[in-house]
Amino acid sequence: MLISTASSLSAAPPPVERVSGLAQPDFIELHHENPGAVRAELVAGLLAPQAFTSPKYLYDGLGSRLFEAITELPEYYPTRTEAGIFKAHADAMAQRLPAGATLVDLGAGNCAKAAGLFAAFNPARYVAVDISTGFLRRSLGALQAQYPQLPMLGVCMDFSSSLSLPPDAGAGRRVLFYPGSSIGNFTPDEALVFLRQARAACEGGGLLIGVDLLKERALLEAAYDDALGVTAAFNRNLLLHLNRLAGSDFSLPDWRHVAFFNEAASRIEMHLEAVRAVVVGWPGGERHFAAGERIHTENSYKWHQRDFARLLLDAGFSSTQAWTDDRGWFAVFWAGA
Ligand code: AVJ
Repeated sequence: MLISTASSLSAAPPPVERVSGLAQPDFIELHHENPGAVRAELVAGLLAPQAFTSPKYLYDGLGSRLFEAITELPEYYPTRTEAGIFKAHADAMAQRLPAGATLVDLGAGNCAKAAGLFAAFNPARYVAVDISTGFLRRSLGALQAQYPQLPMLGVCMDFSSSLSLPPDAGAGRRVLFYPGSSIGNFTPDEALVFLRQARAACEGGGLLIGVDLLKERALLEAAYDDALGVTAAFNRNLLLHLNRLAGSDFSLPDWRHVAFFNEAASRIEMHLEAVRAVVVGWPGGERHFAAGERIHTENSYKWHQRDFARLLLDAGFSSTQAWTDDRGWFAVFWAGA
């Protein structure tokens, strides 16, 4: 069922009918589609001296599927390294979780990571939050069919600038689940703000978060510029999404994928680089890009384990515990709130 975006956050959810085997997840749509505001935001980024776009625009329907493909690439170590950590330590993690918790999956995507932990975590309720509405609906609908007894809620929202979960997204203790090192999209300052909001949203519970760790440049750069070109397609697909959202006329052959490790900032940067001088137009404006000029599309910060532990404490969490793989490439932190 769809609860309209216009309704107040505190509105009581409609009664839920549950027929065994036919359970349907509830959905709350908080993703206020304001096309004018989206266009204005995009155009402001495109007109900035260093043109940029928010990484959230990488995830239209096709972008979400391309990201799924990225997670299967031989060079993209984060997903399988993190999966290995969950597999090895799920029971230890489960001991940290409060009983009867609501598992809130931030950026749930295909919901596969959380689903893999249901057996160990035994949550009372599953709340999947994602910006990609259609993708989330399909994923959660399929998952509900597999777990008809587990109450599920889908929340379609953009939590990148403000994490204000609807009150019915778990009345009891929440465990926020933020795997995959999506926290890496935030600068350290932004990450601190986000983690403070997260702490406030899981009082009495905690946060389980995946963080990609600093490693050799060659490994990092290969993970973001794979031989098959899937990451390039993921990045360039952004332009097709922008053309739909902003009415722009980006032409794909004019733009190439660039990814490199910026060591001073401890982050992978993704850019789209003009291969020749181009003029990009949209209703009411245009920009000239010189050959070699770039649009900055994503940052993916890489952390030292101890610095991230300190960040969690700075954000107000009371305790932290980390699990890593043998190579020390990735860490999963529990942070108690
Ligand atoms: C989803 C933000 C964790 O930074 O590794 C993968 C996105 N971009 N390849 C990452 C991404 C290019 C990914 N996160």
